Amino acid sequence: MKFSSTLGALGASSILLSGTAAITLDISSPDSIKEAAKSLSTNLRTYYTGDKLGDTPGNLPDPYYWWECGAMFNAFIDYWYYTGDDQYNTMTTQAMEHQIGDYNAFMPENQTKTLGNDDQAFWGMAAMSAAENKLPDLGDGKPSWLALAQAVFNTQKSRWDQTTCAGGLRWQIFTFNNGYNYKNTISNGCFFNIASRLYKYLGNDTYSDWAEKAWEWELASGLMSSDYHYYDGTDDTTNCTIINKIQWTYNAGVHMAGAAAMWNVTQNDTWKGRLTGVINATSVFFKDNVMTEVACENNGKCDVDQRSFKAYLARWMGYTAIVAPWTRDSLDPLLQASAQAAAKQCTGGTNQTSCGLRWIDNGVNDGSFGVGEQMAAMEVVQALLYPQVSGPATQKVGGLSESNPDAGADAPTTAVIFNSITTGDKAGASILTLLVLVGILVGAWWMVS
Ligand SMILES: *[C@@H]1O[C@H](CO)[C@@H](O)[C@H](O)[C@H]1NC(C)=O
Ligand SMILES: *[C@@H]1O[C@H](CO)[C@@H](O)[C@H](O)[C@H]1NC(C)=O
Ligand SMILES: *[C@@H]1O[C@H](CO)[C@@H](O)[C@H](O)[C@H]1NC(C)=O
Ligand SMILES: *[C@@H]1O[C@H](CO)[C@@H](O)[C@H](O)[C@H]1NC(C)=O
Ligand SMILES: *[C@@H]1O[C@H](CO)[C@@H](O)[C@H](O)[C@H]1NC(C)=O
Ligand SMILES: *[C@@H]1O[C@H](CO)[C@@H](O)[C@H](O)[C@H]1NC(C)=O
Ligand SMILES: *[C@@H]1O[C@H](CO)[C@@H](O)[C@H](O)[C@H]1NC(C)=O
Repeated sequence: MKFSSTLGALGASSILLSGTAAITLDISSPDSIKEAAKSLSTNLRTYYTGDKLGDTPGNLPDPYYWWECGAMFNAFIDYWYYTGDDQYNTMTTQAMEHQIGDYNAFMPENQTKTLGNDDQAFWGMAAMSAAENKLPDLGDGKPSWLALAQAVFNTQKSRWDQTTCAGGLRWQIFTFNNGYNYKNTISNGCFFNIASRLYKYLGNDTYSDWAEKAWEWELASGLMSSDYHYYDGTDDTTNCTIINKIQWTYNAGVHMAGAAAMWNVTQNDTWKGRLTGVINATSVFFKDNVMTEVACENNGKCDVDQRSFKAYLARWMGYTAIVAPWTRDSLDPLLQASAQAAAKQCTGGTNQTSCGLRWIDNGVNDGSFGVGEQMAAMEVVQALLYPQVSGPATQKVGGLSESNPDAGADAPTTAVIFNSITTGDKAGASILTLLVLVGILVGAWWMVS
């Protein structure tokens, strides 16, 4: 994913005052929650054109990067799981199949320029959710959902980099992409999340060993503080001595779910303590129990990627509440207040059902519409349905997806492939780097500690 050139361009352009909320939500009624989720999904679906004739399944039009498509299909998989409404399953399966790419590891060659470890992992996590939620495998000799998640894990495990900072994953996979020097929290956090969930699904210690290793490294490197705050990342040209301390909702969420999975399998007090700490530290993202992307909402500087981040914290809070039931007392008030506040402001656009970015304005829609805003509202509302579902399947309990421990093993570990990248592409990439740097410098002004 990338810091976007629209940095700063987003403002509260059109402020619409809501008379009556267009999305009705009674949090005590599962039917009401399902209806609300359905209405939110209808609007989200309007952004997707990949299943139209002549378009490419799995892609969203500009300005959405490839990773957010994977994130969106994960949202549709969860939507089906929570509500039982399967109207998007065919679309989702088609999209995921088209983006499998080379090595059966979500590395399509034509996405090379935007393919960081985090980007690949968002598709891998969607495949993991498909396996956990029992979406039928593709069949016909095609890789299973579980194998796709294993392929992402295996390719990333082989990219673990000891040459600097005593370990960690780099942001970028390929040396020619700028951001290769950045070791960021979301890349390592996604790897931790996938490893933990594979461990829960399969019980193989290889996965728990890597989950533990990623966790320990993030703590040692300072990407995670000892009181469980997650910072954006660090540069390996300084051997990771300088930390960019911006905090994002999705970094907390991605670790929360992984820690919950680890606790679920081990019921180990160390993981209980860690999970408690992660949940407690999310207080930085809540105002009167309503979720807010604190680093950029208040100054109107959330870029296209960042406008989707609350979706993932909400998603992973739902997952956490299922697999670690003792967290419900802490999570319920946050999910409930956030879902109500999110739904209340979905009054924008032509049909008066579009959700804005900010949930903390007591029903005022801020006029910022897009896949991220819409997905975040949908995720937080559908997560309220977690008591209705049995929880992620495992190989022993309910799982249907076939394991392939060696998936992705044929993928190259270095950047020697894809050398067809042209000079023009490289120039494009360095412009992106500049934007990343600007993003980080500007970010320093609104970082939270
Ligand atoms: C608004 O409603 C029309 C008619 O039902 C529909 O075709 C369109 O996709 C809707 N747009 C959004 C953004 O929901
Ligand atoms: C890119 O690659 C994928 C996977 O190999 C393929 O399905 C798609 O058609 C290609 N083209 C575009 C424009 O995404
Ligand atoms: C880089 O940091 C790691 C972890 O703190 C440390 O073990 C290593 O010695 C450092 N390397 C250099 C060259 O300073
Ligand atoms: C609990 O987990 C921690 C961290 O993974 C580990 O060091 C410890 O040995 C585990 N304890 C037990 C009893 O398994
Ligand atoms: C919970 O978070 C607050 C605020 O970040 C912090 O002051 C407190 O020490 C934390 N408590 C625990 C038990 O981690
Ligand atoms: C672990 O998660 C499963 C759902 O995958 C759930 O049914 C089970 O109760 C959880 N285990 C514990 C000890 O809470
Ligand atoms: C556990 O996973 C590792 C790494 O994928 C694999 O080599 C090993 O065969 C697996 N063990 C079992 C018992 O499946």
